[in-house]
Amino acid sequence: MYHRLAPVTQSNPLLPGYQFGAWLVAGLTPINADGPLDFFVDRPHGMKGYILNLTVKGRGRIFDGDAAFDCEEGDLLLFQPKTPHYYGRSPDSNAWHHRWVYFRPRAYWSDWLSFQDEVQGVGRLHLPEALRGEFDRLFASIENTHNSGRRFAEELAMNLLERLLLRAVEEDPRSHQQVRDSRVIEACQYVTSNLAAEVKIEEVAKHVCLSPSRLAHLFREQMGVNLLRWREDQRVIRARLLLQTTQEPIASIGREVGYDDQLYFSRVFRKRVGVSPSDFRRRSLDAHDALVAQETWYVPRRANE
Ligand code: FCB
Repeated sequence: MYHRLAPVTQSNPLLPGYQFGAWLVAGLTPINADGPLDFFVDRPHGMKGYILNLTVKGRGRIFDGDAAFDCEEGDLLLFQPKTPHYYGRSPDSNAWHHRWVYFRPRAYWSDWLSFQDEVQGVGRLHLPEALRGEFDRLFASIENTHNSGRRFAEELAMNLLERLLLRAVEEDPRSHQQVRDSRVIEACQYVTSNLAAEVKIEEVAKHVCLSPSRLAHLFREQMGVNLLRWREDQRVIRARLLLQTTQEPIASIGREVGYDDQLYFSRVFRKRVGVSPSDFRRRSLDAHDALVAQETWYVPRRANE
């Protein structure tokens, strides 16, 4: 009944074949019966990152067979990475419009990345009517901010996304989110304020009055990753920001975030981000130029010009 389009290389994220290599992509998919988007999204191996999906009109059908369920206006879904995606307009509805954000999360978001009501890797939260406007606006601001071409566009979009996730967890009636241990928070702060230094776990542990093994255990339990891995994430996040927003030489950015050896810095960066620091900087600049050019292109000319 539904046709699947053959995957091709694609520049439109609404069509099959688009490569989601980025850290954040947001959009609105307005599916209308027999319209050009009226097919089932079919990604049997899921995606590398998470997807949040908010139904704003009509009904969607998620999965087929026994696991199938429908989502309706106000349903917020969270797809875990590598969870199969199979969804489209529900046959009972003549439309399914949904907003979505694809993202690779910050390390410390891990506690907020599962809803209590989950079917095969897809969490579901039904938002009461009074909250729908707020969530709809947050999705829209993430998309607009991310595409704005502003200097901190991606950081600001991630910041709005963090708010969205927190609000979702706050509204999740069945979530008994653990409150993070204050010593773990303190350890994060200590590591962040000494980002470039090779602080040892013993030193952090002493600072927060725990034994090294107790801290290691508690940190892993609450943050989902070990302390060194978490610090590496923070270093890469900081380096990305400096590459995007300053003209500092790459070697000094590396040093600033704790890597004296530039080759090692490039290796870690490439492993985490997928491209080298210089390629990352070039691509950010190109993306920025393209957006500025596009904005100029679309500026309506006044009659007297
Ligand atoms: C679009 C889909 C949307 C979401 C993004 C990542 O093509 O319409 O639901 O899956 O891809």
